[in-house]
Amino acid sequence: MTEDYSEADKAVRDMIRGAAFGDAGKEVVIEEFLKGVEVSMFAVTDGEAWRLLPSAMDYKRIGEGNTGPNTGGMGAISPVPHVTPEFMEKVKNQVVIPTIRGIQRDGIPYRGFLFFGLMKVQGDPYVIEYNCRLGDPETQIILPLLETDLLHLMDGLSNGLLSEIDVSISPKAAATVTLASQGYPGDYAKGKKILLPNPKDRSDHQLLFHAGTRLDGDEVVTAGGRVMASVGLGAELEKAVEKAYELAEKVEFEGVQFRSDIGSVG
Ligand code: GLY
Repeated sequence: MTEDYSEADKAVRDMIRGAAFGDAGKEVVIEEFLKGVEVSMFAVTDGEAWRLLPSAMDYKRIGEGNTGPNTGGMGAISPVPHVTPEFMEKVKNQVVIPTIRGIQRDGIPYRGFLFFGLMKVQGDPYVIEYNCRLGDPETQIILPLLETDLLHLMDGLSNGLLSEIDVSISPKAAATVTLASQGYPGDYAKGKKILLPNPKDRSDHQLLFHAGTRLDGDEVVTAGGRVMASVGLGAELEKAVEKAYELAEKVEFEGVQFRSDIGSVG
């Protein structure tokens, strides 16, 4: 992907000549360049009924201001401030409903989560990707906002009874900050001892999820690049972000890194 025409021209020529990817590059698909903001929408469906879950936005690059290499996600917020009621209506009518109808038309008996990776371009939704799952780190903020019991919801989905379930979403905002190992997303060391916050210092508005950790005797140590996710909840996004960082600051291990601009929506 590039914003520069001559760079794109050269890349396509290199592909077609086979210089870039060999035979695999000989068929080239050219798509419209979309300039907008990314937003992820999620739904549950039992194949007939469907319900939207909160919107989310993740911060994929390692560095502040979305710089540096891509990662699995250095943080996320929900709901997304630029998802207005008007945009939500467009998402329902132009994306969610046609998707469910398409699944039905193709005879696919799908029951579960749908993840719509969208770009909001001049107020309109464009689908970039679909996933049959929630996301990481989006799950860490969507599930705490789901007030309906998850097991009850899953049971209803699997039995085709979603229309009988009241899917209730908290009006709060949520934010998560990924605590990563030094060097991630490149090479990183493992086995670093983690000092966890005292449970008494964690409020009801804070959650700490383990990802790349393991027990070494009595100690919790790092075992991956994405080590933990600190989550904050609040009446407003600003408060949720503050809570997430407050807890993240209390986790200590050698080389811990996290972005300091999760929640910025510029
Ligand atoms: N955070 C993006 C994904 O899970 O695909």
